[in-house]
Amino acid sequence: MWQLPPMASPKLLRPLAVILATLLVITTLWRLRISVLEPLVPDDLPHDHAEAPSGNEETDWSRFAYVQYVTDDNYLCNSVMLFERLHSMHSKADRLLMYPDGISTAEDDTSLESKLVRKARDEYNVKLQPIQVQSRPSGDATWAESYTKLLAFNQTQYDRVLGLDSDSTILQPMDELFLLPSCPVAMPRAYWLDPNGRTMSSQLFVVEPSDFEFGRIMESISHAGGSEYDMEIFNELYKDSALIIPHRPYNLLTGEFRSESHTAYLGNSLEQWDPDRALSEAKYLHFSDWPVPKPWIKARPDVIQDKQPACQTVPEQPENCRNRDLWLGFYEDFARRRKAVCDIDV
Ligand SMILES: *[C@@H]1O[C@H](CO)[C@@H](O)[C@H](O)[C@H]1NC(C)=O
Repeated sequence: MWQLPPMASPKLLRPLAVILATLLVITTLWRLRISVLEPLVPDDLPHDHAEAPSGNEETDWSRFAYVQYVTDDNYLCNSVMLFERLHSMHSKADRLLMYPDGISTAEDDTSLESKLVRKARDEYNVKLQPIQVQSRPSGDATWAESYTKLLAFNQTQYDRVLGLDSDSTILQPMDELFLLPSCPVAMPRAYWLDPNGRTMSSQLFVVEPSDFEFGRIMESISHAGGSEYDMEIFNELYKDSALIIPHRPYNLLTGEFRSESHTAYLGNSLEQWDPDRALSEAKYLHFSDWPVPKPWIKARPDVIQDKQPACQTVPEQPENCRNRDLWLGFYEDFARRRKAVCDIDV
């Protein structure tokens, strides 16, 4: 203990005591603040979410369908690969393949397209919906792709359909999305874009097919400019009425594993990025690593070398390459399944 100066009088002591008491209160509050906040990070993260609703015995799952749209062979194989995942994960809703009506399903047709369509039907319990791939006079393939996707709105034999872009991997079934409150369209945000734009991503969309909405879509398509695709049309029509599906865990980009900042994906800046945790909670992983090509196209080794996720180095700890290992694994897994399901090498 420190000593008071010998001539300190009681009059002088009083203000000193007040100052000491104040200091004591401030220190105590400071300690409390720390002990109150600390358990929030990382033991009580907001994303230990409750079990998703799974319907009950009365839920008629045949009113719902996962839909895929196909315009060419690569995308046909991707779609069949997604259906294989849904089938082996025992998803409950129907599976519907909208495929170009030029592809024959005759048993004696030995073309790859025909075999893949029949395989989807026979092995993965997929219903087939022939459609016409529309085209513009310019023959713009991206536009045809976009337009075909929007035909999901025309599948009025279902109450609700869930469309997924096929350059992706399904990590967990998403049946609970069919049980969302009724709304014309539900989509996640494009979390990787400027948050002020509030742009929605059409990589995953839940729609209630109807003649009315399909009519609006057709109308919008007929006025679409050269650079307006499905995403622009969705955003234009449903910006203020769509239900927002949380992008976490329903729409994770492979590029997230290469990224230096994860605040946009995590939705807050308190949590640390943990690649294993992010992957285990995610349900849908979309391949997006430009300039690394899509996973069915063989990437040049120097592109991979240059663009793969960096390993983290912390002094006095072994190098951490978990982001890189998982990311390389996504591409290997895709190539392996492409061979197993479609018998095509990457
Ligand atoms: C929409 O569906 C109806 C049948 O339900 C079909 O006759 C029509 O051709 C479809 N439209 C397009 C553009 O595929």
